Amino acid sequence: MSSFVRISGWGKCLPSRILSNHDLEKMVDTSDEWIRTRSGITERRVTPEGEFTSTIATVAAREALERAGVEADELDLIILATFTPDYPGLPATASLIQHALGAHNCGGFDLAAGCSGFVYGLVTGSQFVLSGTCRNVLVIGAETLSRVVDWKDRSTCVLFGDGAGAVVLSATEHEGGLVSSVLGSDGSGFQHLIVPAGGSRHPASHETVENRQHYIKMNGREVYKFAARILPRAFNESLQKAGLKAGDVDLLIPHQANVRIIDSARESLGLDREAVYVNVDRYGNTSAASIPMALCEAIDEGKVREGSLLAMVAFGAGLTWGSALWRWQG
Ligand code: UT7
Repeated sequence: MSSFVRISGWGKCLPSRILSNHDLEKMVDTSDEWIRTRSGITERRVTPEGEFTSTIATVAAREALERAGVEADELDLIILATFTPDYPGLPATASLIQHALGAHNCGGFDLAAGCSGFVYGLVTGSQFVLSGTCRNVLVIGAETLSRVVDWKDRSTCVLFGDGAGAVVLSATEHEGGLVSSVLGSDGSGFQHLIVPAGGSRHPASHETVENRQHYIKMNGREVYKFAARILPRAFNESLQKAGLKAGDVDLLIPHQANVRIIDSARESLGLDREAVYVNVDRYGNTSAASIPMALCEAIDEGKVREGSLLAMVAFGAGLTWGSALWRWQG
């Protein structure tokens, strides 16, 4: 058994191509004004040809390992949260990352929980460390959403972006780390955010391709209502479990889907603007990558210090949600 788990390293990868709202105006019937006022997004990243989820994930992972001072062959486990794997199901993209890193002594698997994937991965990886099963676990959230959005569907293509973020979880005697967590799912809403074809229910066929069923379909209004309700609820539940209150949290890092969802949660929770991290304006919704990317930036900007209490709260397809309270050990 290890006494505590610590985030010993962190890293991110921003794909090089920037796609602005003005670029999108030339592709679909939309406007910079609509996108900014409805979502808060001004630009997003797109993965260039020849790169995939595994390659951007590997860049983020290398940075995290270097910061942690952990060699690849000291890793015991790789958890990749994604719904845009290199291949649909086989092999797991985590294995490709394991090979690229030269992590010869570890297992790896992909974790599918939509945009909540990183929080699910963080909580899962922490259990392996806290139980003493692993000393070092790499948790990555990485997505190439540009490969699964329908570039003809203005209601979705303006919202999403690509990116990757990674953390190394290590066993430590230094008090802190995971304080409490909540993981939830309500599968009755599975149709609201979905890639309808390519799985066992609707295997790929000429028809599914013609009907554009391999792209993301989203019922934006339903997902919005769910997100605005669940974000404060999951946050509060994790606080209650720990016997803490909203004012004890130094920084809320919510899933970056829409600035209006974040603002409405902030207001209902009575949190100051500085207590909530926002970068959706620059990257759009990067699904499972959004929280680890935001965490990296918050650390780089000096917003996370020894003893800081962080709340990482996500929601997404499934429908799923997750909240993790984390005491930063420095
Ligand atoms: O990661 C987890 C999941 N995702 C989310 O959390 C997303 C949740 N949903 C949302 O963020 C919002 O619902 C959206 C940003 C997707 C949409 O905002 P909204 O205020 O709910 O707009 P709406 O869906 O009610 O659409 C308003 C209008 C519609 O026209 P009509 O039917 O009122 O004439 C749309 O056709 O805006 C139209 N529209 C657009 N117009 C210009 C939809 N997309 C666009 C667009 N540009 N890109």
